[in-house]
Amino acid sequence: MEIHLETENLILRKFQENDVSHIFELDSNAEVHKYLGNKPISTYKQAEDIITFFLEQYEQRKIGRFAAFEKSSGDFIGWSGLKLNSGEKEELNGFTEFIDIGYRLIPKFWGKGYATESAVKCLDFGFRNMNYDIIYGAAERGNIGSNKILQKIGLKFVNDFAFEDKKAKWYELSKLDYGK
Ligand SMILES: CC(C)(COP(=O)(O)OP(=O)(O)OC[C@H]1O[C@@H](n2cnc3c(N)ncnc32)[C@H](O)[C@@H]1OP(=O)(O)O)[C@@H](O)C(=O)NCCC(=O)NCCS
Repeated sequence: MEIHLETENLILRKFQENDVSHIFELDSNAEVHKYLGNKPISTYKQAEDIITFFLEQYEQRKIGRFAAFEKSSGDFIGWSGLKLNSGEKEELNGFTEFIDIGYRLIPKFWGKGYATESAVKCLDFGFRNMNYDIIYGAAERGNIGSNKILQKIGLKFVNDFAFEDKKAKWYELSKLDYGK
């Protein structure tokens, strides 16, 4: 399935093999990884592996993160979107099979409302197009921005849980409650 989602300021599409330099710019930035386990990448090979993972997700799980571009400049700003976590290796807060909403932007695009704008669109895509029953979100407790976005787009706080050696917060929104 081709993806072309538009918001006021952004265009979202699936990642492609030639997006390696975009992912390298995003994921080699230590600031971006502050609340993601502090493991930024350092090689193009790692960026290629991330792209391969995205492409496999689209193919095997029929969903995955979407590359986001600023309409006004055409610049790649990062990614936003849904992911199907599946299996013990992707266990989080006791869940092994769940749809997660997330976003990861290059710092020069922070503070413009883009993460919220893209997440609103992806949530809508998840419920209306993909017909998911429930969408989850998680953020480290210290990641104020991410916790705020999850709440702003309508997810409800459920519980605190441990993520590696950090404390994190778990949120959910069901299709029944969406838009209420
Ligand atoms: C988290 C992240 C996506 C936020 O992106 P952003 O584009 O700045 O978010 P928005 O502009 O949509 O901001 C949403 C709200 O959060 C607030 N916010 C964002 N970052 C904040 C911070 N560090 N401290 C306090 N508030 C913050 C904004 O002020 C805004 O609040 P408002 O609507 O009341 O004005 C971005 O910082 C990022 O990509 N971080 C690295 C990856 C990451 O941590 N992803 C989330 C993993 S759970």
